Parts: sequence; C-alpha cells; structure tokens
Amino acid sequence: MRIIEPASPGDYQKYYDLRWTILRAPWNQPRGSERDSRDADSTHLMIIDARDAAVAVGRLHFNSIREAQVRYMAVASGQQRKGFGRRLLQALEEKATSLGAACIVLDARETAMGFYCRQGYSVEGPGHMLYNCISHVRMRKLL
Ligand SMILES: CC(C)(COP(=O)(O)OP(=O)(O)OC[C@H]1O[C@@H](n2cnc3c(N)ncnc32)[C@H](O)[C@@H]1OP(=O)(O)O)[C@@H](O)C(=O)NCCC(=O)NCCS
Repeated sequence: MRIIEPASPGDYQKYYDLRWTILRAPWNQPRGSERDSRDADSTHLMIIDARDAAVAVGRLHFNSIREAQVRYMAVASGQQRKGFGRRLLQALEEKATSLGAACIVLDARETAMGFYCRQGYSVEGPGHMLYNCISHVRMRKLL
C-alpha cells in the first residue's frame, strides 16, 4: 500500500470512481455528482494497493491562507476499519501543514464523527444536511 497524488487520467478515474462509489452511489446520485468546482485547485491523495487499485481517497483545499478543509474522505467498503482512513487523513494534515495551514475544518457525516474525534478533531456545531437525510457536523483541528 502506498499514498500517491493522482497524476494520470487513469489515476483520476480510480480516484473519482471510489469517491462516487462510497459517497454518492448509495444515495442513487449520478456520476459527476461526486465532483465540485474546487477539485481543480485542491490537493488529492489516494492510497493504492499492490495492484494499483484505489483503497482510500481524500481531498484538501484552502478556505483562506491559514484554514484548510478536508472533503470527500472515502475508504473502499472491504477495507474500512483497517487504518487506511487514519493514514490518509494524517497525510492530508501533513500536506496542509507544509502549505502553511494553521487548522483544518471539515463537515463530518454524523456516522463518521467518531473517526474524526479519534484523530483530534473537535465539534464546532451543526453542519449541512445532504440529500435530506445525511446530517453533518462542523469539526476543527488546530495543526
Ligand atoms: C469514515 C472513514 C473515512 C474512516 O476510515 P477507516 O479506514 O474506516 O478508519 P480507520 O480504520 O483509519 O479508523 C481509525 C480509528 O477510527 C475508528 N473509526 C473508524 N470509523 C469510525 C466510525 N465511523 N465511527 C467511529 N469510529 C470510527 C476506528 O475504530 C479506529 O479507532 P482506533 O483509533 O481506536 O483504532 C471510512 O470508514 C469511510 O470511508 N466510511 C464511509 C464514508 C464516510 O463516511 N466518509 C466520511 C465522510 S465525512
């Protein structure tokens, strides 16, 4: 297993496929719904296995010069709870630090809140509701 920044069109296809499969397909959302306008100026990281299959993906962008945001964290369904999410989040945090961030914010699905708490994030308040059914909480970590 290794962490890479997707570079080739093939890498990006695997990257967005996993994002869509885990975060959009279960709610019957179409291909393309897994992307947004900040993808172009974000840092993308993914963990790939020995066969180059995507195991975990996540994105980092900046809201201001000191505040970074993590979005679209997704680990392949057969690979969850094996430490890949933590490894990827740590790599995104290291990237944020190297780019000058003082903190990271994120909107955690309530079902994933415990994961982010374990990585040192604190709840700031309620976040948005996605598809009328997925509640989020705004969380922050000082780097
Ligand atoms: C949430 C997610 C990114 C976590 O990644 P993961 O690889 O499964 O988590 P890890 O194995 O690295 O877990 C690290 C720690 O968090 C805990 N943890 C993982 N998922 C958790 C969850 N949903 N709730 C509470 N704790 C969780 C693990 O038990 C582990 O605890 P430990 O420190 O005591 O060992 C992943 O499970 C996932 O993609 N879930 C579905 C999509 C999703 O909800 N994405 C997040 C959107 S905000």
